[in-house]
Amino acid sequence: MPAPLISLVRWCCVVHDQSSLLYMWIVSCKLEFWGIWFVRDLRWWSSETVAVVTGGNRGIGFETVRQLADHGLTVILTSRESSTGLEAANVLKELGLSVDFHQLDVLDSLSIKKFAEWIEQTYGGIDVLVNNAGVNYNLGADNSVEHAQNVVATNYYGTKNVTQSLIPLMRPSAVGARIVNVSSRLGRLNGRRNRLEDKDLREKLANLETLSEELIDRTVSTFLQQVEEGTYTSGGWPQMFTDYSVSKLAVNAFTRLMAKMLSDRPDEGLPRRFYLRMKASFCANGMEIYMYLDCQRA
Ligand SMILES: NC(=O)c1ccc[n+]([C@@H]2O[C@H](COP(=O)([O-])OP(=O)(O)OC[C@H]3O[C@@H](n4cnc5c(N)ncnc54)[C@H](OP(=O)(O)O)[C@@H]3O)[C@@H](O)[C@H]2O)c1
Repeated sequence: MPAPLISLVRWCCVVHDQSSLLYMWIVSCKLEFWGIWFVRDLRWWSSETVAVVTGGNRGIGFETVRQLADHGLTVILTSRESSTGLEAANVLKELGLSVDFHQLDVLDSLSIKKFAEWIEQTYGGIDVLVNNAGVNYNLGADNSVEHAQNVVATNYYGTKNVTQSLIPLMRPSAVGARIVNVSSRLGRLNGRRNRLEDKDLREKLANLETLSEELIDRTVSTFLQQVEEGTYTSGGWPQMFTDYSVSKLAVNAFTRLMAKMLSDRPDEGLPRRFYLRMKASFCANGMEIYMYLDCQRA
């Protein structure tokens, strides 16, 4: 791509930083060649860039580790089970990728603490955190809240606790450290279907002036209490995959809150967003997933 065009693309990127129209255009048009060239030109990472991925032993987490390492970053694959994590990391190491392993159970505060200490001693800090670990016990179209506590604890509190423990270790840099929370459209606040019925609560969660950690925690604990009491079906919660939807709704709200709270860090520069193109052989229907990672600066 000629240099003036690259400058134009960069300028458009600045202008459209909020809407990311340009990135979406590249993705949706499947202009693979240009897309890769474009991303390469914006390369802000090196082998010194350290990324951590939770739940990296399989699924989307494993593929994220593989692609980040393939792009040249040093990636810490974490997993709650040491044996499966080590095995997964070794597969990638054998491909010549720079992948390290450490145990991390996002439900276990001691495991999070030990991991943070290890990171500090071994790498001094990190640049990218991908909160991917998650659970969903709903099958097919069936909704089940049988495991609601575990779903909310893993998807929301796990993401929150890991993030809060690792933020002090995130290195400020000219391009900004990045936190990526892997969420789901089921957690949308204002989707046409499958949303919270309580308009007032939706507005409070959407408004950065009223959004708080306490409000998010109160929302999920009210849901869990209603599950325990057997009254959740009339509580106005999302109808589809209720426990999972509530957990991801909380993740989305927490992501917006963190973006606001961390916005005064001194990190500067572009790009603040990037995407990974994922050929999803792990996906049940064999479809190709374009995973657009909306990165907040940490
Ligand atoms: N697949 C989809 O269609 C889809 C769509 C939207 C969003 N997502 C989200 O994408 C993320 C990954 O999904 P996936 O489809 O790749 O799921 P997956 O194949 O079931 O993998 C989930 C990963 O999370 C790990 N995990 C679960 N609990 C954990 C804990 N307490 N501590 C640490 N790791 C834990 C699992 O470890 P074990 O191997 O030990 O169980 C596994 O590595 C999740 O956040 C999910 O909600 C997925």
